[in-house]
Order: sequence, then C-alpha cells, then structure tokens
Amino acid sequence: MNRQDKIKKLIDLREEAKLGGGEKRIESQHKKGKLTARERIDILLDEGSFEEFDMFVTHRTEDFGLGDQKYLSDGVVTGHGTIDGRVVYLFSQDFTVFGGSLSETYAQKICKVMDQAMKVGAPVIGINDSGGARIQEGVRSLAGYSEIFERNILASGVIPQISAIFGPCAGGAVYSPALTDFIIMSEESSYMFVTGPKVTKAVTGEDISIDELGGSSVHSTKSGVAQFVVEDEEEGLLLIRKLLSYFPQNNLEDPPATDCNDPIDRLEDDLNIIIPENPNQPYNIRDVIYKIVDHEEFLEVHGNYAKNIVVGFAKLDGMPVGIVANQPNFLAGVLDIAASRKAARFVRYCDAFNIPLLTLVDVPGFLPGSSQEYGGIIIHGAKLMFAYGEATVPKITITLRKSYGGAHCVMSSKQLRGDVNYAWPSAEIAVMGPRGAIEVLEGKKIAGIKDDEERAKYIEEKENEYREKFANPYEAAKYGFIDDVIEPRNTRFRVIRALQTLATKKDPIPMKKHSNIPL
Ligand code: HXC
Repeated sequence: MNRQDKIKKLIDLREEAKLGGGEKRIESQHKKGKLTARERIDILLDEGSFEEFDMFVTHRTEDFGLGDQKYLSDGVVTGHGTIDGRVVYLFSQDFTVFGGSLSETYAQKICKVMDQAMKVGAPVIGINDSGGARIQEGVRSLAGYSEIFERNILASGVIPQISAIFGPCAGGAVYSPALTDFIIMSEESSYMFVTGPKVTKAVTGEDISIDELGGSSVHSTKSGVAQFVVEDEEEGLLLIRKLLSYFPQNNLEDPPATDCNDPIDRLEDDLNIIIPENPNQPYNIRDVIYKIVDHEEFLEVHGNYAKNIVVGFAKLDGMPVGIVANQPNFLAGVLDIAASRKAARFVRYCDAFNIPLLTLVDVPGFLPGSSQEYGGIIIHGAKLMFAYGEATVPKITITLRKSYGGAHCVMSSKQLRGDVNYAWPSAEIAVMGPRGAIEVLEGKKIAGIKDDEERAKYIEEKENEYREKFANPYEAAKYGFIDDVIEPRNTRFRVIRALQTLATKKDPIPMKKHSNIPL
C-alpha cells in the first residue's frame, strides 16, 4: 500500500465508523424521533471541538455468530471536546450497534475517558441509549458495568457527572446514571427501570406498561430519579451546556464567575409587599427568587418533584449560587420526606463543588402523620440537617415568614454554621406555630368553653397574643440567631454583599475517613 492508499484507508475507516450499525439502523433511529450518538455530540459540543478516542475498537467475541458482526467503535462514541471553551469528556451510546448494548471493549472505552477526565479535572457527560449488557458477552459485560460504576463512585464530588437518558436504560445499567449528579430524560423516548414490565408481571403479577413503570414522567414526579425532563434531545443537550455554566471543572476550582450588568443595588419594592397580611395565605417563592437573582434567570432543578421545596442555580453579581427555598404555594411549604431528600442532595452537590448556598425560609414545620413517620421522615429530615450542617461553602439564609420548630433548625440555621442569617420583618421564628402552641398550652381551657363562638374568639385572641410575643424576627435577633432584620426590597444587595465578604471563607470539618450521613 502506498502512502496515499494508507491515507485513503484511514479516511474510509473513519467513514465506516461514522455509520455505526449502518444506514438502515440510522434511519430506524430517526424514525423513532431519536438522534444518533454522533448527532447528539455535534449539538452538545462547541463546533469543531470534538476529539474522538478509540474509533477503531471492535469487540472480541466470537460466540453466537458475533465474529462476523464487527462494527468500528463497538457501539459507543467516546472522547472529549469543549463547552463554552471549557473541556468536557463524554461518551455517547450508539443504539444502531447491537442496540447500544455494553460489551467488554465498550466498557473499556468509557473507563478510558472517565480516567482521563479525573486526571485532567474535567466533567464527564454520559449519553445513554442502550439495551443493557451485551447478552452474548455474559459476565464480561457485567464486569464492564462494575468498572464504570466504581469510576462513577470515585469521581463523585471530584468532577461533575451528568447523564442524559435518550432511550432505554434498564437493568443494572441504571446504576451508572444513578451514581452521577444529574439525570436528564427525554419526554417521549426514554425509560429507566431495574426490572422491566415482563419480569414485573412474572414475579409480582403486576401488569404495567413501560411508561408507567419507568417513563420520564414517573422519574421526574414520583421517584425523583430524574432531575430534568426535556421535550426533545436537542433541548436536553442545550440544558447540559447551561448546567455546566454554573459549575467549576472540578472540586478544587471555584465556579465560573461572569461579568454582570444587572445592578447589585437594584431595589425591588414589590418584595416589601409580597408576603400576604394573612399568615396562612400562600405566595409563589419563585417570584421572590426572580427578583433577587441576576436578570431573573433561575435554572430550577427537580422542578416537578417535591414541589414544596424549590432548588436550583442562579447567579448573583455574576457568581453562581445554589438556591434552596420552601414553596408556600405547595403544601404550605412543609418539609416532608421527598422535599428533605431533594434538598439534601442539592445542598451536598453545591457543597462538593464550592457553590455558595442561598436559603429562603418559609416553612411551617415537618409534615405530621403516620405515612411520613412510617416512611422514615426522621432519617430523611436528618439528611437535610446533615447536609446543611456539614456544608462549608458560604451559607446565607433569609427567613421570609415562617420558621418553626425542627424545620427552623434544619433550614440552614445559625447553629448549623449559617454564615449570614437575615430575616424580613414578616418573619415568624418560634418553637412552633401559634395554632399548635395554643392547643398545647391552652388545650384544657379551650375544651372547657362550651359556646362555639366564644371558643373561637378565645383561640384567636390567644393566637394573636402568641404571634405578637414569639412569632416575629426580633426574639431570634435578640439572641444573635438572626444577624440583622432587613428590608425585603434590599435583599439582593444584602445577599451579594454577604457573598462578596464570604468569598474567602474557610471552615474546616474534623479529619475523618468520611461521614455517616443518615442514608
Ligand atoms: C445484544 C442487543 C441487546 C442486548 C438489543 N440488542 N439489546 N444485542 N445485547 N442487550 C440488539 C437487537 O438484537 C437488535 O439487533 C438491535 O439491538 C435493536 O434491538 P431491537 O430489539 O430491534 O430494538 P427495539 O425494538 O427498539 O427494542 C429495544 C430494547 C430491546 C427494548 C432495548 O432490544 C430489548 O429488550 N433488549 C434486551 C434488553 C435486555 O434484556 N438487556 C439485558 C438486561 S440485563 P439487530 O441486529 O436486529 O439490529 C443487564 C444487566 C446489566 O443489562 C447489569 C449491570 C450491572
């Protein structure tokens, strides 16, 4: 072969690899409304930045006739590129090759990019679209999965890991995404479950469809497995780009600050009147968030799950922050099992990647009742407490209205090493709400009043008395538990100044192998 032939061979091989499992299968992928592995990469990365690894890898299995079926790249496209000029590593599973199923060599390709991402200190993005373990490879495929899982675990808290699910993700294959930081599912074409409908039917008798068992709606609203659902793959890929704009490359870097032309001292008069006069009337906490953050831009995480707490990313004077806020508009903003888990995971992510936390508090307490107690609200509530108490990033807390009992302690209180704890004049910080307190303190007397009207009047009087005395910010401020009571319209400025001041904060935790968070 002369020099030119050798170059031609290289070009031909590259073209062959780019076709994956062939044009027919690409067509079938498109017919299902799905993009191919390489089309997804093109949308995800900065134009022309993709450097592919291991294009010439093929599997090594001869059984079941696989010897005659070898495809260059072996069902997964791997490599690195840039997003907004910053390096990312990625793998994109190619459903056109054996249904994207995972072989030994395929797993090695993924491990190679994960290992290099760890050395370089850059995020890893996994695009999943696979029929699971390549059945013909047996236990070698299982070992390949476990190699990936171990790397997901070691990379956790060191580099951001994001998973997109754009097709099947079933069986043990679900655990790699589950070990990463964020899962994005496409609305129509993705599903995730440990055991599919057929096995479910055989083992438990339950008759259930794929979508009902593990579709995007299930995982974004019921199980909480997926933080995001997108209408189509392009939206999902652009979302990954947006998410990364809030994250550092790794745990040793600060998140990327950008120039900001939104004035830091912008006064928002609406905030002075946003809290209703009636303490039991709801309002939308998102309206408060939008008024405080740069350009009203807030990237909500887990928006459809545990709606009684809102979490997400925003910027303040160009600095990325994580926001956690009780939502009075849903279940009065109460803390329950799902809300505690959701917020705890978010707080830990922010802390691992040096993203300061802004907490907006309006919480009537923990949700009472047997279903919560049987479900372990004690342990799940403790997760959020633990996450806040362990976090060493700057922690700024604003109490807008209610902050009662255990929920007060949990929501980034001063004693959980809150750095700056402000309250609005409408804050009610007390051991419990007026209604509950009066029931306990005056229960016998109330029961003794036979006339309904008289009883209601007495309760109201006592509640007002309690509210005046305890349900305000000044009791807590008197003891230094609240650093200052601030005018709501000035919140943006006060938070930004606190963040600027805390930028050099150091607050070590005792040396240990690792903590034992109540899981
Ligand atoms: C080998 C596979 C495969 C697999 C699909 N294919 N899954 N080859 N191993 N796991 C091949 C098919 O033979 C077919 O080849 C092509 O991929 C496309 O598959 P179709 O069935 O035609 O596609 P579709 O109708 O869209 O169905 C997709 C699917 C289905 C629902 C994913 O293929 C399926 O149920 N696959 C098996 C899923 C499974 O049981 N996996 C193993 C789970 S155990 P041709 O040549 O026709 O294009 C597991 C353990 C992991 O994953 C444990 C980790 C710890």
